Amino acid sequence: ANKVLNSRPRLKEIDSFEKTVEIIDKAKKIIVLTGAGVSTSLGIPDFRSDKGIYSIIKDLPLDDPQDLFSLPYFRQDPEVFYSSAYLVLPPVGLYTPFHAFLKQLEVRGKLLRNYTQNIDNLEANAGIDPSKFIQCHGSFATASCQTCKRRIDGKRIFKYIQNKELPVCPKCSAERKRRFEKNPDYQPRSFGLMKPDITFFGEDLPERYHTNIFKDISECDLLITVGTSLKVSPISDIVNKIPRDIPQILINKDLVDHAVFDSSILGYCDQAAVCIAKRLGWNLDHSDFKKISNSG
Ligand code: APR
Repeated sequence: ANKVLNSRPRLKEIDSFEKTVEIIDKAKKIIVLTGAGVSTSLGIPDFRSDKGIYSIIKDLPLDDPQDLFSLPYFRQDPEVFYSSAYLVLPPVGLYTPFHAFLKQLEVRGKLLRNYTQNIDNLEANAGIDPSKFIQCHGSFATASCQTCKRRIDGKRIFKYIQNKELPVCPKCSAERKRRFEKNPDYQPRSFGLMKPDITFFGEDLPERYHTNIFKDISECDLLITVGTSLKVSPISDIVNKIPRDIPQILINKDLVDHAVFDSSILGYCDQAAVCIAKRLGWNLDHSDFKKISNSG
């Protein structure tokens, strides 16, 4: 994590909020890189802030809280994941003023792609065209059996997650029962279980990430990084791969270690989005717009 991200020299000319808004106004092919910080205003905890998921689950029997999303660990002890997965269950139909801003970038033909690390599907809730965002760490949209690979609509396991129960694959349940009756300590304990298609550590990113990222990086004319600590590769590496003359803007509550941006708007992303939209004369389609903009 200590590798220097984004070690190129800062473009000095973007030295004010006005200049930052100007850059956004002029850009036509914006990559927006997002993380958990763009969903916290809906009460979805991020991961590493002091009230984030990794501090909420600190008493679980894990050496590293990130093991909650590790494939080898899930295979060995899926109960731990299913005891806490309710914390990251996506809210149905909701989105934030920031996602309304993202939608405006799309409507105005400025959004090349949103690379999101989030699995909460808020981009879809905001009506952003699926071709315009990539859920790099997967999502709850589908779930797959760890044994027969059968894929189902992810919503069908939500009740198991809410009740902290194990979702057994209907096709594999008899065989699972047989194996555990014969040996209660059978491994992998995930045999015949459904898992949401979110990218666990140890799993590769979705194909759509690999088929789009290099072309998008070569075509973009602006990178906006929002609501992420840039701690997890390969997404954190994107800031290093953008051509050196392409401006990079950060919108985040905290500074991001080891990363140099041409302009950093430090604060809440919803308020930043509302301020930028106001300066550009864009009307955000979001009920909270008025509430936030008064406090913006
Ligand atoms: N507005 C702006 N920034 C915010 C807000 C907000 N309302 N709330 C939180 N943040 C910032 C925090 O300051 C922090 O820098 O968002 C960042 C969230 O960082 P993390 O909690 O590390 O989340 P993220 O970067 O998305 O994690 C990446 O780690 O465990 C894996 O797969 C998981 O996708 C996740 C990945």
